[in-house]
Amino acid sequence: MALRIFRSLKPVISAVNGAAVGVGVTMQLPMDIRLASTDAKFGFVFARRGITPEAASSWFLSRVVGISTALEWCYTGRVFSAQEALERGLVRSLHAPDELLPAARALAREIADNAAPVSVAISRQLIWRMAGASHPMEAHKLDSRAIQSRGRSADVKEGVSAFLENALPRSPSGCRRTCRTSSTGAPSLRSPEEGANMKVSQAVDSRKSVRGFLPKPVDSDTIRRVLDTASRALGGNLQPWHIHVVGGEAMQRLKGIMRERVAEAPGGEDREYDIYPRELATPYRDRRFEVGEALYRCLDIPREDKRRRLAQFANNFAFFGAPLALFCSVDRRMGPPQWSDLGMYLQTVMLLLREEGLDSCAQECWAIYPQTLGSFLSLPPERMLFTGMAIGYEDPDAVANQLRAPRAQLHEFADFMGI
Ligand SMILES: Cc1cc2nc3c(=O)[nH]c(=O)nc-3n(C[C@H](O)[C@H](O)[C@H](O)COP(=O)(O)O)c2cc1C
Repeated sequence: MALRIFRSLKPVISAVNGAAVGVGVTMQLPMDIRLASTDAKFGFVFARRGITPEAASSWFLSRVVGISTALEWCYTGRVFSAQEALERGLVRSLHAPDELLPAARALAREIADNAAPVSVAISRQLIWRMAGASHPMEAHKLDSRAIQSRGRSADVKEGVSAFLENALPRSPSGCRRTCRTSSTGAPSLRSPEEGANMKVSQAVDSRKSVRGFLPKPVDSDTIRRVLDTASRALGGNLQPWHIHVVGGEAMQRLKGIMRERVAEAPGGEDREYDIYPRELATPYRDRRFEVGEALYRCLDIPREDKRRRLAQFANNFAFFGAPLALFCSVDRRMGPPQWSDLGMYLQTVMLLLREEGLDSCAQECWAIYPQTLGSFLSLPPERMLFTGMAIGYEDPDAVANQLRAPRAQLHEFADFMGI
């Protein structure tokens, strides 16, 4: 849990109104600001029980209160008063018990009402993550990117004019209000050790559908290595995927073909499979709707502006500016279990791309033009196009890339039995 709080894009404030001992206090260390009632008590009592500090508190505690206090509290294991916690910097303020929650809420409200949520999310990640950096240059590299990217945002225009007019900023980018579900943050804040030293969890967390790429080319050896390594993806022994990689002149040709084709057949061609079930029931329909709306909100395209929504969709067929793409096809005699093998292969490709510093967007939209693609790729009759995928380097200034698509909560999709 401590690590989940550490990764949070939203600020976390704790209000302590009782005994916070053991995990009761260590879980609060990755929180940003702690308030306590005068009745609160704290204790890092591990050594008195013959155990040691947990919940990554050996990392957090000394950063919050300094190494000497951290050691003193852990060595003695004593339970100490709210006053001592205040004096040593563990808590920010003390309150009468019945005034504690209003004070915590007022602080949260001050942040929510006045600050641009994306700036807050990035500040949170910068300050926490840089607490472990070995040189200020690491902070310089990251905060320069953040300033450059945020400097062009609508929030800046609003913030500056609010300052000039002495008005309250309204944070125009409504999509970013709900930081955890539909905002930028961790994925665009890449740690310096990203890439070669990236952990699987970092690759998973930082992968997102990128819908705006830099014109920087992708090295041919890199994509070959990724596709080759990804063949270790598990499957049902058939390896039923087939990949076409398209770049350079071939990609330009395909884009030209698609410009004409989309104009003459905007609704697509005869489908070979349904991208979504025809009757999409709750909760799936709601989830699909939620992601779509979050994307258009980021792009500031209202629902009634069909022309701009269609134009955004049509960007798919220019690969969102990516310099490289792949197409994945499958023998049409394969059934649902084998299609899952395709998914596992493609997800592995997308994670390995992250390790190379590359980004991607899976693009099933190509399957609405199966005849055009079949002819362009010279697919044999037994193969059916499943999906395309745009590949390249994320353009950090592309607004569409600020979307952090929402996900269902663990309890909504997982049941645990016997554990
Ligand atoms: C098989 C597949 C096909 C997809 N096709 C498209 C597409 O045609 N265009 C697009 O913009 N996104 C496409 N996506 C991306 C999804 O919209 C995206 O994965 C989802 O919203 C979750 O967001 P995230 O990838 O940023 O986490 C596709 C994803 C998958 C897995």
